[in-house]
Amino acid sequence: MNMKAVVLAGGSGTRLRPLTDMTPKHLLPVGGKPIIEYGLQAIAALGIVDVAVVVGTETREPLRAHLGSGSRWGVRISYVFQEEPRGIAHALLCAADFAGRDPMILYLGDNLLGEPLSGLVQSFFRNAASAAIAVKEVPDARAFGVAVLDTEGHVRQLVEKPAQPPSNLAVIGAYVFRPEVFEASRSIQPSGRGEYEITDAIQALIDAGKTVVPHRVAGWWKDTGTPADLLHAQQLVMEGLETEITGALDADTTHQGSIRVEREAFVHRSALLGPVQVGAGAWVEGARLGPHVSLGAEAQIKRAVLENCIVLPGVTIEDEQLSDVIVGPGMRVSGARR
Ligand code: G1P
Repeated sequence: MNMKAVVLAGGSGTRLRPLTDMTPKHLLPVGGKPIIEYGLQAIAALGIVDVAVVVGTETREPLRAHLGSGSRWGVRISYVFQEEPRGIAHALLCAADFAGRDPMILYLGDNLLGEPLSGLVQSFFRNAASAAIAVKEVPDARAFGVAVLDTEGHVRQLVEKPAQPPSNLAVIGAYVFRPEVFEASRSIQPSGRGEYEITDAIQALIDAGKTVVPHRVAGWWKDTGTPADLLHAQQLVMEGLETEITGALDADTTHQGSIRVEREAFVHRSALLGPVQVGAGAWVEGARLGPHVSLGAEAQIKRAVLENCIVLPGVTIEDEQLSDVIVGPGMRVSGARR
């Protein structure tokens, strides 16, 4: 049996505009790496080779240009086009031919998980289930799909974004299915928000007597819908940063904590308080960076203090103090003559 993966990357990220006018949400970096690469790595770590990336009108070209054949992650990417954003179950159906008769992981490409996907896959196979869904207890589940379990610990009911959540178990963006999910997805009607909801398709499986098991995620999980989510996600992923210096620091630069300075980056007369990531070819001079700062490639940071920031490639920041900010690609921020 050959397990496959379907990664959804069709959404246009409206809550992240105007950032997503320039860079599709899935390619926005956290900790110096585009969001979607974390999911691809987690899938590749399972030994899965065949990956379909479902793209939309706005995301098709940039994603193809960035991810290419997938060989950088040791996977083989097929691109599946979803003409209109009509929901997760609809996006999955677009990949039905790709999946064929094999079980598959469905991964929402804007979700970040602080643990490997192996626990979810094990729950699926151990229980010979029709579906396994990753869940996590959250203080307020109203913004998510919500799972209710039965006495055996299987999923009995799923509700999408309930005003009054019947439990605090939120459905996370990682699922394992057998191909019967396609039939279930074809059997449902659009929800109140006009989408074919994956929660409804899974409920159809349950109603047909199939076994759906939850997998409780012990580590962190982040759905990256808003700028605050992105900054928080960066804090979480950067906790795992390992020091690696391929670029150069001069003798007048101090650093503590984990720092990553990529090739051809140069840090001059500065202080780095990790976790800090400096992208390839960046120039940092007279600056104080960190904690939780990532600089994109070719950024130029001079006489600036940055804390908890995501700086995209090609940005210039001079004589400025920024915290909790995402700076869009190629922007110039200067506080010099104020
Ligand atoms: C989607 C799913 C929801 C799930 C969430 C996880 O919501 O419909 O069940 O809990 O992803 O991120 P959406 O991102 O479409 O609001």
